Amino acid sequence: MTDTLTRDHLLGLACGLTAAVRVRRFVDPQTCAATVARLSAEALVTYDTARYHLPAARLGPVINEFNDCRRLDARYWSAAAQAEKFWDGESGGLRAHCLAQLGAAWQGSVRAASVHGRPLFYGIVRETSAGTLVHWDELVREFGSDLLDDPPIAQLAFNLFLSMPDEGGRTAIWRHRWDPRDEAHRVGFGYDAAAMGLDGCQRTEVRAEPGDAVLFDPRNFHAVQPGKGSRRLAVAFFVGVTGSGQLRVWS
Ligand SMILES: [Fe+2]
Repeated sequence: MTDTLTRDHLLGLACGLTAAVRVRRFVDPQTCAATVARLSAEALVTYDTARYHLPAARLGPVINEFNDCRRLDARYWSAAAQAEKFWDGESGGLRAHCLAQLGAAWQGSVRAASVHGRPLFYGIVRETSAGTLVHWDELVREFGSDLLDDPPIAQLAFNLFLSMPDEGGRTAIWRHRWDPRDEAHRVGFGYDAAAMGLDGCQRTEVRAEPGDAVLFDPRNFHAVQPGKGSRRLAVAFFVGVTGSGQLRVWS
C-alpha cells in the first residue's frame, strides 16, 4: 500500500516481484462519487452470463469480447466511439488524471494502444458487485503478439475504485500463471479454482476504498469476491509495458 505510485512500483509489478500495489486516494472520493452519479443505468451493458456466469456489467467495450479469430472484430470501433462519449463529457477529467498520474510515475510516455494507427478505447466502468470467477487476462496469449502496433512485454491491470461494497469485494490474486493443464478446469470465462489446485498457491488479497487504485499483473490468476451493500464499480484498463519502454493502455 502506498500514497504515491512510483516507477519502482510499476517495475516491480512488471517483473513479477510485486503481486499488487494499492494506491490510496489516487483520485479524491468525491470525484468518484460524482462519476457514479453521472452513470446512467442504460449506460451499463450486462455481460453475457453464459460466458461470465456471475452477473456483471460495463460501460465501454473490452477487446477480448471482440476477438474474431485473434483479430479485432470491426464492430469494436462503433462500440468504442459510443463509449468515448462518456469520457468526452464531465467525467473526462478523471480518466485523464489516471493517465497523467501513470505517466508521472513511469517518467515516460503513456497513451492509448493502437491497432493500425487507430487508438483503442481505454477506461471501461465495470460493475462486479457479485464477484467474478477465477481467471487471467493476457493480450498476447489471447490475440497473439501482432495485434497492437506496440505489443506489450508485460501487462498490468489498473482499477480505480469508484464505489465499493460495505463487505467483501476484495481482489484475490494467486501466484500462478496459465498452464495448459488448467484448461481441464475451465468454467465459461473462468476456472474452477479448487479443482485446478489454486488453494496450494501463494495468494494475496487487496481491499480498496473508493478513490483507491489497485494495480496487479493480470497474467496471474485472479478473482473478485462477492460484495454486500454498495455496488462495486471501478474504472478499469490494462497497461502494457512495451519493448521500447513506453506504456500503452487499453480495455
Ligand atoms: Fe481480470
